Amino acid sequence: MENIVQPANIKQLSEFPLIPSNYVHSSYNNNSSATDPDDVSNSIPIVDFSLLTSHDPHQRSTAIHQLGKACQDWGFFMVVNHGIPEKLMKAVIDCTHEFFNLPEEEKQEFAGKHVLDPIRYGTSFNASKEIVFFWRDYLKVFVHPHFHSPTKPQGYRDITSEYTQKIREVARKLLSGISESLGLEESFLDRAPDLESGLQIFVGNYYPGCPQPELTMGLPAHSDHGLLTILINNQVEGLQLQHQGKWLHVKALPNSLLVNTGDHLEIFSNGKYKSNVHRAVVNNKETRISIVTTHGPSLETVVSPASPLVDKDPAAYIPMKYRDYLELQQSNILDGKSSLERVKIPNN
Ligand code: OGA
Ligand code: NI
Repeated sequence: MENIVQPANIKQLSEFPLIPSNYVHSSYNNNSSATDPDDVSNSIPIVDFSLLTSHDPHQRSTAIHQLGKACQDWGFFMVVNHGIPEKLMKAVIDCTHEFFNLPEEEKQEFAGKHVLDPIRYGTSFNASKEIVFFWRDYLKVFVHPHFHSPTKPQGYRDITSEYTQKIREVARKLLSGISESLGLEESFLDRAPDLESGLQIFVGNYYPGCPQPELTMGLPAHSDHGLLTILINNQVEGLQLQHQGKWLHVKALPNSLLVNTGDHLEIFSNGKYKSNVHRAVVNNKETRISIVTTHGPSLETVVSPASPLVDKDPAAYIPMKYRDYLELQQSNILDGKSSLERVKIPNN
């Protein structure tokens, strides 16, 4: 018998012994060999942030080289010695968990209607378009250039404000190193995307324990919009990334930041730094919380490949305003790199 439910939130469904049939992702299921346990990755690049901000030019250039290599070979790296207090990281995770534990009516006050609404609580990725849903609730909040925050739980505003400002500084410094690694001026990836007014989105992801985790998915394979995404989680694993055609579980170093390159870095770099493809799986034991911040251009920036990089090589992407891209990506179904494909110029 078909057991189909309209999703309200995933928290409610996690209390039943079986998952509804419209949460079963057969493609993931058939493909589960891709997640065999020895795919645990211990070769993910590590970037020492203290070297990147060092006044010693040799140390800095070593760090820039590592950063460039990580972007080119992986589109993913872990950042250590980043200076964000562990206590603050824990507070933002705990407070986000508290948000998802609020009664549904209270969370519904924050249910956005439009994908560009500055505060948006919801379930799956785009439940209005999906036929099969994902085992995930989310809270998306625009935190820069204008800071927003839900009014609950108490103290959330202060904690997210402090965390997102600090993480934004880290993102900007990483982007200046990435700029140099591309042979561009240090400030290129600050000026061209107009980071002074850049859009930063705070995303809380809630993946409760699932009775049949092997049948469903937290988030499908996708790349992120924007330049860089920075993720932390509550030490429950679930993030997987695609590397050389294989899926790898990410085991984060304690207290590290997980960073992946986004579609707009791929466009700016004219395809040299491909946006990373990743997904989230769920487990049957414990709730996983991840905190994701996306760091993108200003909404009005028209993004195209960096002009110094299209001297010898032709531009591989057509220009598109970040606002239009974001709207396109967020109002469709999440599917690999399908949004980026729309701006890609086919070879020849
Ligand atoms: C995302 C994302 C992965 C995770 O929010 O874009 O990829 O592990 N999240 O929560
Ligand atoms: Ni993502």
